[in-house]
Amino acid sequence: MGSENILYLCGKIINHSHFIMEISQLKQAFLEAYNHDAAAVFFSPGRVNLIGEHTDYNGGHVFPCALSFGIYLLIAPNDCKQWRFRSLNLPEIISIDVTSAPRKLPNNSWANYPLGVFAQFLKNGVRIESGYDILAWGNVPAGAGLSSSAALEVVTAYALDTMLGTHLDRTQMALYGQAAEHDFAGVNCGIMDQFASAQGKQDHAIDLDCTTLQYELVPIKLDGMKVVITNTHSPHKLDSGAYNTRVAQCQEALSQIRALGFSHIENLAQLSQSDFDSIADLISDPVAKMRARHVVGEVARTNEAIAALKQGNITRFGQLMNLSHISLRDDYEVTGPQLDALAEAAWHVDGVIGSRMTGGGFGGCTISIVRDKAIDLFIEQVSKEYTQRTGLKADFYIAQIGDGAKQLE
Ligand code: GLA
Repeated sequence: MGSENILYLCGKIINHSHFIMEISQLKQAFLEAYNHDAAAVFFSPGRVNLIGEHTDYNGGHVFPCALSFGIYLLIAPNDCKQWRFRSLNLPEIISIDVTSAPRKLPNNSWANYPLGVFAQFLKNGVRIESGYDILAWGNVPAGAGLSSSAALEVVTAYALDTMLGTHLDRTQMALYGQAAEHDFAGVNCGIMDQFASAQGKQDHAIDLDCTTLQYELVPIKLDGMKVVITNTHSPHKLDSGAYNTRVAQCQEALSQIRALGFSHIENLAQLSQSDFDSIADLISDPVAKMRARHVVGEVARTNEAIAALKQGNITRFGQLMNLSHISLRDDYEVTGPQLDALAEAAWHVDGVIGSRMTGGGFGGCTISIVRDKAIDLFIEQVSKEYTQRTGLKADFYIAQIGDGAKQLE
């Protein structure tokens, strides 16, 4: 999902608040599509993760923020006993009979995300007897790894919850979204993206413990600095199988480690760095060892980074961001030449506090903390070095940290 046509401003800094369609325009589009008015309008944001990558499905902490851009969803009941899905970003229109058990749609249909959420309501015993008309529009950059799919899942959960009066809490909405991603998109993702989309708060990051789902909102006040997202324009493909392979490799690492005298641990995040070091040479599978080394190190880095930020030590936070990227590059092997080129170019710029890939990897975006006075230089130098190394053009966005899912009308 995304609005590639609108956001394609290569080499220029982009302020995303400019890419808001008026709600009246969205309502008009709904009326034209379905010949009746929308009953309600909802929004759920994309996310960017500051640190804590590939730790969520290993039981560790993550530290994401909701963004000011995301997915808008308009909904109304209909009389034709169908769930009808349309998007203003993509041409495909899907209609599903309300009496048929929803199944995954072929050809990576975008409607798998909302339909997968309908299926979760049904699976949890909620009856959906009415037909519904749905129109979605997103302003998340396409293929950028900023969780447009999670935003679509969560906004659907929020809208259905409101229409059906099921009173889900936001964490349950996130869990429905995650289950939809597993069952209808085939990605065995952790909870981070959907949780950030559901629970985000303006100008805060979420310190989420992915084992207990307890969380703390941490204010992000960066005096004289900005969070800059840089898009590789090398599409991140979460459904490519490489993500699910990493999840499986972590499970393999866990079972090897449990057999080495750590049968009490339930996930890799429970292994301390010193315990890992004491058995690292005994892990027979070299790939499993590398994956575990990343996770154990990233869990420690994330906890240290959050503590450093709370103490106002942004320099240490930045160093840990850089170390996170290196570990994702060397041990987790999810960066690739484009993300490495962006991060390394950023590290060369005076005034960059830290820079790393963000999200699942294999393309997508980096996130950098940059001093205000260095931003122009950052864009100039990173653009130049990136294009020289890859032949591609990068886009830059100043991250505006927004609220989680909400009803707009
Ligand atoms: C994707 C997944 C998340 C998380 C990140 C990596 O965004 O959806 O659950 O695993 O990758 O941190």
